[in-house]
Amino acid sequence: AKNHKDISMAVIRRLPKYHRYLKELLDREVYRISSKELSLMMGFTASQIRQDLNNFGGFGQQGYGYNVEELYKEIQKILGLTTNYNTVIIGSGNLGQAIANYTNFQRFGFKLMALFDTNPKLIGMKIRDVPIFDIDELQEFIDENKIDIGIICTPKEFAQDIANKLTKAGVSAIWNFAPIDLKVPEDVIIENVHLSDSLFILSYLLSNQEE
Ligand code: NAI
Repeated sequence: AKNHKDISMAVIRRLPKYHRYLKELLDREVYRISSKELSLMMGFTASQIRQDLNNFGGFGQQGYGYNVEELYKEIQKILGLTTNYNTVIIGSGNLGQAIANYTNFQRFGFKLMALFDTNPKLIGMKIRDVPIFDIDELQEFIDENKIDIGIICTPKEFAQDIANKLTKAGVSAIWNFAPIDLKVPEDVIIENVHLSDSLFILSYLLSNQEE
């Protein structure tokens, strides 16, 4: 297989979708699949699929297709899903609680260690056994627990301050839901999520639909 670092970001951005479909195949006890069948399932062209999966070494064989399990494992490895990560959520309102209540991330190795907030009504509560602490305890908590990922779910006015606190405390990755571009040191990784981007594309498609 190629060194993972040589795989283009465009290919990497498609991997979660491969991961999802391959998992579904495994759950259905399908152990091999052709690029053509995958293409019908996923809506990528067969040639796109062959090109993408070529990056990961010799899992495709003429007349056999792909070994679903090997491919799944390789993609998991590339996506870092064989590693466990500790996470914290900052901002324990609607969104923070919704993410905390979503147990599926844990299955893929993302462990929620704590939530934080400024609201005294929330501090001391638990979401699925995970405590909500005062934001003033963030630094100490991160010092004492190895935290890999900070998830920002505060209103946008506070997000930059939270990002500063997280990076100062040594967190190296931020999953940012606040609608603001955060400035962080070069070695800190940020992935932004904007549900509205996806919603607006839906709106575009709806408003341009043929009558
Ligand atoms: P919310 O008002 O229910 O929750 C925000 C929480 O942050 C509150 O509990 C508040 O006490 C807490 N908070 C405020 N300042 C804080 C600080 N300095 N430190 C720690 N906690 C603090 O709001 P909601 O609906 O949960 O939205 C949260 C954020 O997520 C907003 O910025 C919103 O725009 C964004 N959002 C983003 C979405 C996306 O797709 N990216 C979707 C929905 C919301």
